[in-house]
Amino acid sequence: APFDVEYHDSIGSTNERARELASEGREDVAVVADEQTAGRGRLDRGWTGPAGGIYSSLLLRPDVPPAHAPVYTLAAAVAVTRAAREVGIDASIKWPNDVLVGQSGERGGKKLCGILTEMEGEADRVAWLIVGIGINANVHAEVLPEGATSLQEERGEPVDRRVFTQRLLETFDELRADPDSILDAWREHAATLGQRVRVDTPGGEVVGEAVDVEFPGALIVETDDGERERVTAGDCEHLR
Ligand code: BTN
Repeated sequence: APFDVEYHDSIGSTNERARELASEGREDVAVVADEQTAGRGRLDRGWTGPAGGIYSSLLLRPDVPPAHAPVYTLAAAVAVTRAAREVGIDASIKWPNDVLVGQSGERGGKKLCGILTEMEGEADRVAWLIVGIGINANVHAEVLPEGATSLQEERGEPVDRRVFTQRLLETFDELRADPDSILDAWREHAATLGQRVRVDTPGGEVVGEAVDVEFPGALIVETDDGERERVTAGDCEHLR
């Protein structure tokens, strides 16, 4: 099996648990929980973790430089999107790694999944990488933050979480075995490309048309004065 799966009914944070496993020298473990009581999101936000979700953290030790790490986050977004499409949901990716349902309206769709990647690097190589994936699976929209949706909400019936997780892990495993395939797969599943976007970056706001993604995960934005800006980090908003 590509990953050893460590399953929990309820846990504080699967990313935290994966960190413990990393410190024990483990690799290729997927920590999966139905409920999280202290889930963490990006930018020091929390992540709501009601029972019925699929909260997972993949612990990897890829033999790559730390700068390549973002591509694994993109791979996880592709894997979730593909699994969601297989159960009949019109999912797509908002750069860099939110999975949305429905591309238009409501500021580019409702959020189905968020990903938080953590890494420890040595000088020229990743020591460990933890890709934390939070999927709103069989949970009611009322218990989710505004702007979020769930697999169950969108389908009108619950998904088999075990099967969904299995498909997700299989796809992720295929993609990581062939990192060159990840960007093309991401482009195929992207909601952001072709959209007018506003990205809040550490260096200021960038507004324009999202035209491409480049290794290891930078968004290329063509601004109104015709410049091509390469954005590597930030919060992205779809403007139309
Ligand atoms: C985001 O802010 O969009 C990222 C949210 C990531 C949440 C997942 S749930 C599984 C893993 N464990 C955590 O504590 N966080 C991530």
